[in-house]
Amino acid sequence: MARKPIIAGNWKMNMTRAQAIELVEELKPLVADTKNEVVICVPYTDIDVAVQLCAGTNIKVGAQNVAWAKKGAFTAEISADMLKELGTEYVIIGHSERRQYFGETDASVNARLKTALANDLKPIVCVGETLDQREKNRTKSVIRKQVINGLAGISAEEMLKTIIAYEPVWAIGTGKTATSEQAEETIKFIRGVVAKMFDRKLANKVRIQYGGSMNPKNVKELMAMRNIDGGLIGGASLKANDFSLVVNFDK
Ligand code: PGA
Repeated sequence: MARKPIIAGNWKMNMTRAQAIELVEELKPLVADTKNEVVICVPYTDIDVAVQLCAGTNIKVGAQNVAWAKKGAFTAEISADMLKELGTEYVIIGHSERRQYFGETDASVNARLKTALANDLKPIVCVGETLDQREKNRTKSVIRKQVINGLAGISAEEMLKTIIAYEPVWAIGTGKTATSEQAEETIKFIRGVVAKMFDRKLANKVRIQYGGSMNPKNVKELMAMRNIDGGLIGGASLKANDFSLVVNFDK
């Protein structure tokens, strides 16, 4: 069951336009001959220039959110049409920072996901438990709920276009990575939930990433796990060399 590895950078709220230009130019030659899929999810203000600079390269550009509504009175939201017109290909949905600081819920994640899919944006849907939930042995029930409710009502065809990112909240930006066994166990569990929602054959085709302090040092071990199909990379995506080493983990 060959699932193509996908390494996606999540720049979060970093990189002005000028800094973005510098980073993309530095990155391009470093990842040019990988067989893995390479995505950078940049701030809205960097999308235009990133798409232009990445044209004709193997780097795809993504956003970090998308509005559920088509247009109208939704101050500060950015619509799928706006993203598509700029050439955006991917979009992160339901990142834990959106859930934690901006009140995103499984319901809003689901609405954004459906809009992304309806507009041919490839979604990366994030799920993950907090430290407190893990310590109380609630990891599986929390993740099951996020997957079932976040992905509710999409078709099998849409499921195959959707990427899931498992990001334990306690591992994000903390330098604490889940062990490869912990990551594998939960990602295998997520695949099982998808199999119950759809079927096993389809679930075996869905790509599931790990995210949370993934870096050049731990990428090989994580990617060696059967169920881990890629990474969503925060901190290490802000330095061209580090990000390229993650992308080129198999070299
Ligand atoms: P990190 O962030 O790699 O800095 O831990 C990952 C993410 O939040 O997507």
